[in-house]
Amino acid sequence: MSQRSQALPRKRAYIGLAIGIVVVGAVFAIYWVTHKNVSSRTLQPNDQLVVERGTQLYVEHCASCHGVSLEGQSNWRTRGENGKLPAPPHDATGHTWHHRDELLFQITKEGTTSVAGNDYQSDMPAYAPILSDEEIIAVLSFIKSTWSAEIKQRHDEISGRVSTQQRQIAHENIVQTFQWWILIEINDRVLL
Ligand code: HEC
Repeated sequence: MSQRSQALPRKRAYIGLAIGIVVVGAVFAIYWVTHKNVSSRTLQPNDQLVVERGTQLYVEHCASCHGVSLEGQSNWRTRGENGKLPAPPHDATGHTWHHRDELLFQITKEGTTSVAGNDYQSDMPAYAPILSDEEIIAVLSFIKSTWSAEIKQRHDEISGRVSTQQRQIAHENIVQTFQWWILIEINDRVLL
């Protein structure tokens, strides 16, 4: 037996092991990157059932102030005679999408005073006694579902998450890396 033929199976085993480590590592890395900052407070604008439920809740509880088309009240940037701000729009012209999921959840559940302080006078009610946590997520998910792909992506990023588009690119990258490794492995076996 020549030295070369003895060394071959060992070399193959090392290559196999290296591929295994790279693939497992990559899968973990992708999982970590795409699932970081995903919690029960994460809005689900792509879940049709959640959005349907949210639509009903929005019409029932929010539309009277924030508008049927999420347009908000007129002159919403100017305080009224009572010193309070009118309801802002939830569409792209407002600043709802500037806030992270957790903050939107807190404002809806506990009211604006929970964020701005007890002295702050606001007409935004606290929904804790009226809506469950799931219902609050549903209504906010509906609001997010109406935003353009670009605004949704920016909101994902503001919330510290990887956007759906970036996630797709990450998945494509891992598949490509995997394909290259298989090619190299086959080449190695055929050529040796
Ligand atoms: C009685 C009127 C009224 C109703 C009903 C109402 N809101 Fe509001 N909402 C307001 C007002 C007024 C503000 C602005 C508060 C401020 O900044 O002082 C506000 C602000 C908000 C904000 C913060 C937006 C931002 O850009 O800072 C969110 C989120 C919000 N409302 C969600 C909801 C949701 C969800 C519902 C229904 C479940 C709802 N609101 C129902 C009046 C209302």
